[in-house]
Amino acid sequence: MIPISITVNGKVRKAQVEPRTLLVHFLREQLHLTGAHVGCDTSQCGACTVLVDGRSAKSCTIFAVQADGSQVVTIEGLANGDELHPLQTGFWEEHGLQCGYCTPGMIMSAVNLLGDNPQPSEQEIREGISGNFCRCTGYQHIVNSIQHAAKLGPPKGGYVPSGGPASAFAASAASADKKAGAR
Ligand code: FES
Ligand code: FES
Repeated sequence: MIPISITVNGKVRKAQVEPRTLLVHFLREQLHLTGAHVGCDTSQCGACTVLVDGRSAKSCTIFAVQADGSQVVTIEGLANGDELHPLQTGFWEEHGLQCGYCTPGMIMSAVNLLGDNPQPSEQEIREGISGNFCRCTGYQHIVNSIQHAAKLGPPKGGYVPSGGPASAFAASAASADKKAGAR
């Protein structure tokens, strides 16, 4: 077992994990934060998306030990107390879900999308959520929900909740993105 310390939704969580424990399983099974869903376990569906140091990441592709020292935000940490995040309001107002299985991951990906581009075109929205699958809605209501959030504008502090200081994981992910030519 390996000791880790991860700040999750603003709270430092220390734990012992097996080296093979995936971040999504750590969140769901050890912290009981079940908003991040497991839809495939093969990094395809995006249902497990959370923010790691302010960037959306599929938490089934990260070992919990890799996130040691990171700031993780899950859907449970997105609202500011009783005040919904604009994306949560958008999904509520525009009926951006049916079964809801994809919704937490879809919203967390959209957080990054609006953080990077607060006024995206419809095409940019569709590209921004292309790593997240929805089997119910046909996507149009999801697009409408994100457009609704963009019209509402960012909450105080911006669309992306404060991630705190960047960790070694974020630095290595950023460098991998750079090498891959990602934006
Ligand atoms: Fe992580 Fe599907 S469960 S991408
Ligand atoms: Fe059912 Fe998206 S609302 S998978």
